[in-house]
Amino acid sequence: MPIYKNIIESVDDGILIITINRPEKLNALNTMTLSELKKCIENAYDDMGIRGIIVTGAGEKAFVAGADIAEFSELNELNGRKFSERGQEIFALFENCIKPVIAVVNGYALGGGCELAMSCHLRIGTENTFFGQPEVSLGIIPGYGGTQRLTQLVGKARALEMMLTGEMVGSNTALRIGLLNHLVATKEDAIAKAKDILYNIFKNAPLAIGMVINCVNSAFSKSVDGYQIEANSFANCCKSMDFKEGATAFLEKRKPEFKGE
Ligand code: COA
Repeated sequence: MPIYKNIIESVDDGILIITINRPEKLNALNTMTLSELKKCIENAYDDMGIRGIIVTGAGEKAFVAGADIAEFSELNELNGRKFSERGQEIFALFENCIKPVIAVVNGYALGGGCELAMSCHLRIGTENTFFGQPEVSLGIIPGYGGTQRLTQLVGKARALEMMLTGEMVGSNTALRIGLLNHLVATKEDAIAKAKDILYNIFKNAPLAIGMVINCVNSAFSKSVDGYQIEANSFANCCKSMDFKEGATAFLEKRKPEFKGE
């Protein structure tokens, strides 16, 4: 397992835990941390031993408090576009991962932190979780997919209110508007909840899981026909060994043994 400067990785029972580890800067995403995040998720794509992923922040105070504002003085029109596109590309790797990715959102998830959490498939928060897109207060806008994913998750009016005021929403509101899937008391509880959900997902056929993620993501793409993707994926499932195993196991009144084939 590679050694990173700003990320800690651990693997337990098929679950990779990615912890962004710059607590003295509230886990702000500087260039190095983003590069390391990219490597982590790319490795997770390839590692057959990893079946699901949890993303969280070190410490109790922050998931990620945003892109690293200390690096903003370098930004101009030319590299600003690259900055945005690079973040979008890396977060798309999380969204498009065919293994389930859950964000355990401890503390502040602001700016790029909110955007990272939203690129994960599910989000679990704690009593001190705060989401926000405060970029307009700095004279910029969310650039790592936030304008799109926040709108998808909470709807246009709520997304506009959050992005135009820059104000944070707490965990109860986040749960109510659909930013959080679950709200628990502490970070430990959130990790345990994330693991429970992942183990429930792991009972199911791996190919089908990946296809559901892909089809649901297609619902938000303007360049593909989600219904066509769904029909193609369904057909692919029908020729899989796992489909035969799932249907046979049901009829034989036993638990299926899926192999991801
Ligand atoms: N980029 C760089 N450094 C950051 C950061 C960010 N996004 N967010 C926090 N930090 C740093 C602070 O500069 C401070 O570093 P220092 O101790 O060397 O001065 C450290 O993290 C602790 O933050 P601090 O502001 O002292 O904590 P706080 O409890 O008073 O406030 C926040 C917490 C989250 C409200 C506040 O840090 C904040 O507003 N951060 C920026 C959020 C933001 O605008 N994100 C979007 C960026 S596009």
